[in-house]
Amino acid sequence: MFTTSAASDQPDYPMLARQLASVLEGERNLVTNAAQFSAFIYSSISDLNWAGFYLCAPASKPDAEFPNDLLLGPFQGKVACTRIPFKRGVCGTAAAERRTVLVEDVHAFPGHIACDSASNSEIVIPLIKDGVIYGVFDIDSPRLKRFGAEDQLGLENLLSIFIAATDLNQ
Ligand code: SME
Repeated sequence: MFTTSAASDQPDYPMLARQLASVLEGERNLVTNAAQFSAFIYSSISDLNWAGFYLCAPASKPDAEFPNDLLLGPFQGKVACTRIPFKRGVCGTAAAERRTVLVEDVHAFPGHIACDSASNSEIVIPLIKDGVIYGVFDIDSPRLKRFGAEDQLGLENLLSIFIAATDLNQ
């Protein structure tokens, strides 16, 4: 019995969750864990060309409706846009609306910011703890419709493990 290539490519998210908890164990530093998390995702999931963080600019006023910008954080992949205004692009939309944004075809997303022309689909998950947004985690794929509902749930769970294991307020 053969499975389709898409199904066989599907990550084993429960296993990845166990591995991630082990990778992050014993360290709570934000930059360290964010770098490890980016490398873990990039090397564990097939068909990716970028995976990394955009973090809320530290200079943002705490009482502002939104922080001013998202700044590039630890990532894997090609050199990317350094600064993304809140509400702009897929990342700014996920941050401003505080929800995961799953884009099957980036060319059909109004305002998509093309950092790497190889990207065709994308998922961006907000980094929220105790009601405070700290940034987003962005994953790009050269394959159209690379991410589905199962990926969204699995990736949101992996990010929640990162959040629990990390001191975000640094
Ligand atoms: N595509 C993103 C920009 C970041 S890069 O993909 C790394 C966006 O539209 O926000």
